[in-house]
Amino acid sequence: MSDKEDLFVYDLPVRMRRLRKNSRIRNMLQETHLRTDHLIAPLFVKEGILDPEPVDSMPGVHRLSVPDLTEECRRLLDIGIQAIALFPCNPKEIKDPFGSGALDPSGLAPRAIHAIKQSVPEMTVIADVALDPYTSHGHDGVLNAGQTDVDNDSTLNVLTQMARVLAESGADWVAPSDMMDGRIGAIRDVLDNAGHADVAIMAYSAKFNSAYYGPFRDAVGSQASVGKAYLDKGSYQLNPANPREALREALLDEEEGADILMVKPAGAYLDIVSKLRQSTDLPVAAYQVSGEYAQIHAAAEKGWLDLKRTRNESLLAIRRAGADLILTYFASEVAAEINS
Ligand code: PBG
Repeated sequence: MSDKEDLFVYDLPVRMRRLRKNSRIRNMLQETHLRTDHLIAPLFVKEGILDPEPVDSMPGVHRLSVPDLTEECRRLLDIGIQAIALFPCNPKEIKDPFGSGALDPSGLAPRAIHAIKQSVPEMTVIADVALDPYTSHGHDGVLNAGQTDVDNDSTLNVLTQMARVLAESGADWVAPSDMMDGRIGAIRDVLDNAGHADVAIMAYSAKFNSAYYGPFRDAVGSQASVGKAYLDKGSYQLNPANPREALREALLDEEEGADILMVKPAGAYLDIVSKLRQSTDLPVAAYQVSGEYAQIHAAAEKGWLDLKRTRNESLLAIRRAGADLILTYFASEVAAEINS
């Protein structure tokens, strides 16, 4: 009797913890999921047939020769990754101020795409459209006469032809990551006229002028040209402070004919992912960029964060914000874990 009087039970009409009691119930009620179908693996390709070359600032990421690349695509497909985003690490010798190498049908990227489509045709290959792996100055386009800025319209002339070359080599989707005005419409036009109406455009729509791209620039060598100085792309990439401008960009890409809209980086821009999800019916992708990956690895290396838990939480957060697809350097290891 007295026991019962001591046990004071609060009169709470709602007790949320009832549905968190054990992991089975928690699984039943999980609202957001991460499947291998949601993941796109970015891959780096290099010339030659030498061994995979580690990218120092991205533990576990390598520059692969074309034969190793096709093998990696087979392996990724076997564990459920349906698409890869390809980035060429071009030798310095082919770079010039105009990014001419981007139009060479037998250049590294077209050859790599062709090889993948020959040996792993089921893999969806996404080809990057931007000049930074091809320009000696590291910018995504060609410079104006005074060399003071990237010139929009002359860059478009190159990018549209680049997209055609990539489509001709077998790319399933092209992904313009350059942030020039009017590029989506211009590329759509050229592709359609060249008989590539079936090639989709995944637009890097809301691409911010972010410090999180540092390790990627090491990987493709676009930073090398300016040495230690920060390669500033602020005259074409979005100001990180501007959510409204980001939405305008994305909706403009939709009008111009983009098939998928992307936000990049992902983690620091979940508000943009969420807003874009509510403003469009197109699929939304988000790119968990090199710096986000490096950050998690660095903290885990110090023993300050648990790698797997932080990794999984970061990806789930991107899905929760509304991304259908996630480009992530964690794709392979997460897929392996999902399958196990
Ligand atoms: C540029 C490009 C960048 C990335 C992909 N394409 C960065 C940049 O603007 O220099 C970054 C990807 C990453 O950081 O993982 N066309």
